[in-house]
Amino acid sequence: MQGDQTSHNSIRFVLDGAVHEASNVEPTTTLLEYLREDLRRTGTKEGCAEGDCGACTVVVGELEPNANKVSLFTANACLQCLPTLDGKQLFTVESLGEYPDSLHPVQQSMVDKHASQCGFCTPGFVMSLFWLYKSQTRTNYNELLRVLSGNICRCTGYRPILDAGLAMHAYESEREDWLNVPGNDTPQDQHTLQLLSSLDTGTSLALRKSPTDGINYLAPVDLSELAGQYQKHPDATLLAGGTDIGIWITKTFRKFPMLIHTGRVAVLKQISITSKSIEIGSAVTLTQLIPTLLQEFPELDDFLNRFASLPIRNLATLGGNICNASPIGDSMPVLLSLGTELKLRKGNTTRTMALNEFYLDYQKTALQSGEFLESISIPRRAKGSKLGSYKISKRFDQDISAVCASFYLQNHDTGERKIRIAYGGVAAIPKRAYATEEFINRNPINPLNIAKALEILATEFTPLSDMRASAGYRSQVSENLLSRFLQRIWQGETDTRLISVRDYQHGT
Ligand SMILES: Cc1cc2nc3c(=O)[nH]c(=O)nc-3n(C[C@H](O)[C@H](O)[C@H](O)COP(=O)(O)OP(=O)(O)OC[C@H]3O[C@@H](n4cnc5c(N)ncnc54)[C@H](O)[C@@H]3O)c2cc1C
Ligand code: FES
Ligand code: FES
Repeated sequence: MQGDQTSHNSIRFVLDGAVHEASNVEPTTTLLEYLREDLRRTGTKEGCAEGDCGACTVVVGELEPNANKVSLFTANACLQCLPTLDGKQLFTVESLGEYPDSLHPVQQSMVDKHASQCGFCTPGFVMSLFWLYKSQTRTNYNELLRVLSGNICRCTGYRPILDAGLAMHAYESEREDWLNVPGNDTPQDQHTLQLLSSLDTGTSLALRKSPTDGINYLAPVDLSELAGQYQKHPDATLLAGGTDIGIWITKTFRKFPMLIHTGRVAVLKQISITSKSIEIGSAVTLTQLIPTLLQEFPELDDFLNRFASLPIRNLATLGGNICNASPIGDSMPVLLSLGTELKLRKGNTTRTMALNEFYLDYQKTALQSGEFLESISIPRRAKGSKLGSYKISKRFDQDISAVCASFYLQNHDTGERKIRIAYGGVAAIPKRAYATEEFINRNPINPLNIAKALEILATEFTPLSDMRASAGYRSQVSENLLSRFLQRIWQGETDTRLISVRDYQHGT
């Protein structure tokens, strides 16, 4: 396959107005490692090497399918495997430093607002703000909190940084064009588009350790190639956004005989809406998905925007979250409560499975050898239904759940009530509370029955104690969340959210 017409064997991406080519690279080399060790672009820092601190934030550009346009997003270089950058554009903090005579407006604003002290976090903040600067012509406090949710500063304090973000759009930049950021149709933008188009050859990336070795990294461009190769190499590991796998690389030094990347197969990156369901390709990222889900379920706003941080959501896929099968993954309780189905593929054969049958045991799924998740199907919202989805974690932003709960109530007023209750963090797998559901379906919702439902719920799970929460806390919180949701239904309240993002941001 290497070097034939259907594949290429070196990683190519656009950096500062030219195509950069990387060959003879271990597939698990992170972008951060490559930047610092090979390119000596040491402005991008390593703080945690696990996606938490944002010191390694870079901006990535991607040619939009069927559009003469590049979309930009922030990413954590410490988690991104270098080969996944193939065909994309990269900005590091050094890209901003190439302004010949002046600082970039974002940097100038940081200086003027005294937003840096030791400076270790500063390149990461600058890159997050740079993305925002390029994406919008002005910003506000709430947007800044969302965009900076993945950047941590341990000495300056956040107020001056937020001030710098609020002020940055007021700075005029005389040499903005130099950065080749598409969107305003300059000759430089056209140059970038041409470069990216030249990399868009429609061929798979296939890497080998040496010409005589087998492939150790493959990024197929179509579904049948992906399915065929995975069936042929069932010991390979599927790599989607890499936000879980990246940690296995940096923290446990795990080796992989072969990685197969799902992120270049167009059909796996698509979302389609039918009259019955929302169909989501398994490589759709959280950032791609959130606007569609919010159109259907606006009450998920707080919940979805608390999934990790913006740079993580830009890489992390829904398929990766489901297949990683963590008992504390955030999407599963919501998907379980909504009655989600999965389409699984092995070679040319597909089968459909309800998500509540997918998890067999701790981190064990029903996927067979060589089989993978192709797409996720969420039924369209039932008229008059109520949804309450809650995440309890120690920190508001960028934290893994101690408990996650989701309740979906249909036909409450017509007498054929149907509730689905799902939890994460209270068992070895994400799970529904079937006995509690049955009780609520059969009995009117009132204070007496709510108390009975909570007694039944207490018998359904046996949570563990760990660093995130004690077993007792988890049980209590699980009951409290269901109690709150049912009380609101009983009282006829329409808002099922615990707090709104706006309330939180104004400190209430
Ligand atoms: C800093 C940080 C914060 C995080 N915060 C949260 C959070 O708030 N909530 C939360 O739920 N998670 C969180 N995570 C975990 C992670 O981001 C999610 O689980 C994410 O959705 C994983 O998706 P991915 O595309 O990055 O998966 P990857 O890392 O690429 O893959 C994860 C697993 O899924 C498998 N896989 C991927 N695609 C397929 C497929 N199509 N078929 C079969 N198997 C497949 C892979 O082989 C691997 O085993 C966080 C992670 C980090 C680093
Ligand atoms: S080094 Fe901390 S997020 Fe990458
Ligand atoms: S300036 Fe020191 S960590 Fe932010």
